Amino acid sequence: MAASKRNSTKSNFNLDAFLASSTEQVNAALDHFLPSEKTKPATIHKAMRYSLFAGGKRMRPALALAAAAACGGRAADALPLACAVECIHTYSLVHDDLPAMDNDDFRRGKPTNHKVFGEGIAVLAGDALLTQAFEIAAQCRSWPRYSHRDIILEIARASGSLQLIAGQVADLEGEGKKTSAAQLKYIHERKTSALLCCSARLGGMSANCSPTQLAALTDFGYHVGLAFQVIDDILDVTQTSEQLGKTAGKDTKAQKATYPSIVGLEKSRKIATELTNKAFASLKPFKGKAVALEALAEFLLKRDR
Ligand code: IPE
Ligand code: IPE
Ligand code: MG
Ligand code: MG
Ligand code: MG
Repeated sequence: MAASKRNSTKSNFNLDAFLASSTEQVNAALDHFLPSEKTKPATIHKAMRYSLFAGGKRMRPALALAAAAACGGRAADALPLACAVECIHTYSLVHDDLPAMDNDDFRRGKPTNHKVFGEGIAVLAGDALLTQAFEIAAQCRSWPRYSHRDIILEIARASGSLQLIAGQVADLEGEGKKTSAAQLKYIHERKTSALLCCSARLGGMSANCSPTQLAALTDFGYHVGLAFQVIDDILDVTQTSEQLGKTAGKDTKAQKATYPSIVGLEKSRKIATELTNKAFASLKPFKGKAVALEALAEFLLKRDR
């Protein structure tokens, strides 16, 4: 893989400690925001919590917290928004795994939601997680530059029918068809990059960031988000199901449009590195202070699950 180019010299920033702390904070906050398993109707709350606490990597919340830190914000202010994006992400996975979509039996190292609770409840658990995200976001504070309206619009647009859903539609419609590189980029921009970009932007907004900072975070999130899906496509080919916690090799079986299937593995790795370098370049306005974001982008490029 071509070398990636970070702005800061490898600082002594401790990403492992950052991720451990952000995951712990996000898990505690999600536990606080979600109704308990015993709350009636217990089935839906069990199903929501089952997927939410199954062991996801929590990369979108980490991006939000790292973006907040880059803008001088406090983790506590970014936390509700980090939880909101994780609820949306988890809902999208629960629905993505349904037999009517990718038909996956294994997710986050466990049987998928519909395998445990049945398809009807899995559909509803996804619906409830999506709605929960807006309930959490609506409870957060507002900032001088960003109102509740801005925050809600941000989340609705990233997850709506022009972005995340548009990508999922195009992904489904692309199965078994010859897909151009341009169409593949369209899919990846929407199904994956939109929510990662939104996560970085919300982190910045929670720190009342300047318009210049928000533009930098948008550029960063867009490129990291694209790289994230290219790597996801690569890992589907190169890793085992045990390593991924989800069924490997499914993309080829389902004849999905992916980077490895269209440009091959080697070129896919090169593209992921180039996208990550563009992400690093977009952090220039932070003058070396966006250490957590840089470390995260590097980590996401090199991840093996
Ligand atoms: C998987 O996302 C779905 C994609 C958009 C590629 P993650 O790889 O972040 O999944 P979890 O949250 O760790 O399970
Ligand atoms: C999932 O993409 C994107 C969303 C859920 C929005 P994939 O279908 O590639 O994700 P995995 O590989 O099942 O995690
Ligand atoms: Mg899918
Ligand atoms: Mg899938
Ligand atoms: Mg995938």
